Amino acid sequence: MEIDILTLFPEIALAPLNESIIKRAQEAGIATIRAHNLRDWATDKHRRTDDYLCGGGQGMLLLPGPLFDAIEELKRPDTLVVLMTPQGKAFKQAIARELSTHSHLLLICGHYEGVDHRVIEQHVDLELSIGDYVLTNGAIAAAVVTDAIVRLLPGALGDARSPEDESFSDPNLLEAPAYTKPADFRGLKVPEVLLSGHHAKIAEWKKQMALERTRTNRPDLLDSP
Ligand code: ADE
Repeated sequence: MEIDILTLFPEIALAPLNESIIKRAQEAGIATIRAHNLRDWATDKHRRTDDYLCGGGQGMLLLPGPLFDAIEELKRPDTLVVLMTPQGKAFKQAIARELSTHSHLLLICGHYEGVDHRVIEQHVDLELSIGDYVLTNGAIAAAVVTDAIVRLLPGALGDARSPEDESFSDPNLLEAPAYTKPADFRGLKVPEVLLSGHHAKIAEWKKQMALERTRTNRPDLLDSP
């Protein structure tokens, strides 16, 4: 799979993707991730990429010119164009799974107040938000989305681990608490049942704990369809 990230801050987008699992996935040829500086498509002598809002309002907006030129250069027949924006659809594991089936994603990162709406009308297939808060720029969001997608690609996590039995594989339940060795750490004990070897009992315990944790931390998940 190939992912192109279009941003004013390529280093911000790439830095978290050049470590650990996502770095290895790139080295193994599972994913190709590139970042492009939008300023390279600016045409005036100041290499301007933003301007004031029509009709007034706070802040600046990314100009349509450089964005149209960049998208038209980077887009291919198989490309899904995604805009990172707090106005987007909420990014969830199910969307990560769907996006991981595409051969080419072009992630466009907003900055300041976002992008001229004609870019969205003309070129954007999907607007995505990683949460109900505002980041300084979409490159951070693009790195988050890229990480969540690439780790799902076959081979990215290696043979020993499966992305299937973790939180959000069941989108309405968080994972149960987990423990490792030692069984007694400073008097803090691993729950007896986990040391019992009784698989049915362990499964039941995990289900109960997952429910309890979800009720405490994310009651909204239990109400959602
Ligand atoms: N850009 C700024 N904030 C964002 C968010 N929450 N999600 C996606 N892109 C963003």
